[in-house]
Amino acid sequence: MKFNPYTIREDFPTLNRMVHGKPLIYLDNAATTHKPKQVIEAIKDFYEKYNSNVHRGVHTLSQEASSLYEEAHEVTAKFINAYSWEEVIFTKNATDSLNLVAYSWGLKNLKPGDEIVITIMEHHSNMLPWRNLELLKGVKVKYVDINDDGTLKYDELERMVNERTKIIAVTLMSNVLGTINDVKRIVKIAREVNAIVVVDGAQGVPHMPVNVRELGIDFLAFSAHKMLGPTGIGVLWGKKERLEEMMPLKVGGGTIKDVTLDSVEWNDLPWRFEDGTPNIAGSVGLSVAIEYLRKVGMENVRQHEIELTRYTLKRFEELKDALTWYGPQELSMRGGIVSFNIEGLDHHAVGKALDLLGIAVRTGMHCTHPLHYRLGIKGSVRASFYIYNVKEEIDTFVDSLRTITNVANILSLAQIDRDRCTCG
Ligand code: ALA
Repeated sequence: MKFNPYTIREDFPTLNRMVHGKPLIYLDNAATTHKPKQVIEAIKDFYEKYNSNVHRGVHTLSQEASSLYEEAHEVTAKFINAYSWEEVIFTKNATDSLNLVAYSWGLKNLKPGDEIVITIMEHHSNMLPWRNLELLKGVKVKYVDINDDGTLKYDELERMVNERTKIIAVTLMSNVLGTINDVKRIVKIAREVNAIVVVDGAQGVPHMPVNVRELGIDFLAFSAHKMLGPTGIGVLWGKKERLEEMMPLKVGGGTIKDVTLDSVEWNDLPWRFEDGTPNIAGSVGLSVAIEYLRKVGMENVRQHEIELTRYTLKRFEELKDALTWYGPQELSMRGGIVSFNIEGLDHHAVGKALDLLGIAVRTGMHCTHPLHYRLGIKGSVRASFYIYNVKEEIDTFVDSLRTITNVANILSLAQIDRDRCTCG
């Protein structure tokens, strides 16, 4: 059953804020989402009732905190249909998760001359760790290009993959183009050469059903804060046999079963990769965020965002003389992210003008410099949607863009007139 975004909004205290005297319209969800009161309450409740360290005490509070922390692994595993909760490693965020695969799997299993295939649309977080392996291991990183509509060149990817390819690392959904990549197709290509597939799910997992078994991938990285959860906690899911191939690199408290001066016995999965005191309260928040999303239904989340994107692109038609947007035309191939530029206007200036009207968007290169260079642009304005966004907000957003464009035109005409004026 479809959910009601107007009712959902009541759960999000931040949405009641005024910004520059206007009601906040929050369209920066790809950067981070707001948190429902259920998540905020659960974190407060943890600190008020259970606060204690995990796996380090026989006392009641520590046992209770440990149970909550372990349960969060189970909830997360179920959400992505992992084979077991032991395959879920809590990290700081998706970036941390991708770095963990690159170093703990890559340094151990790659050799000079091996190749890693990624795409030009990757976030720096799914690009720079692999590039570091070029320096550390002498491997080569290759980049698959995009078509003009922002979809991936699958033929090129197929040609690029060969016996030397050991990893294909790809985003499930571009944080700029909104493009949703055909991960199953990529897995098929990878399997022909026994390469592993690492998926950056930072933008994908919060917005659509994701089933790691069905996708057939090896690793999946995502962040809690982009899916109603708190900042400071992310997830690396890995197939058990892949995790067993990884070497613990960040080690210390929690990562071992036994240490003598001559030997170390690493802890079981996932603890051997969760070094130090983890983000326990964060894991509780993530659990509740996932439960919230499960109740809404991930297929409903996806449909809601398709509708908002369809409506935005339709309304963008009214501004087509001035506005260029990026990414696929086909709605089934894109998520709820629309990046664009307005002719003659700097993206930051558009973002600041929108902010003065109470509308939050992201501007800049969105941690995807190579993609922006490929598109031949110095930056873009990005609107990104979530479950609490409604059509009326899109109307205000597009009307505001029209106002900004008109005012900018008037100001530039005024400047031309002023330049012509010689009367002092
Ligand atoms: N990775 C986040 C974004 O794309 C921060 O905005």
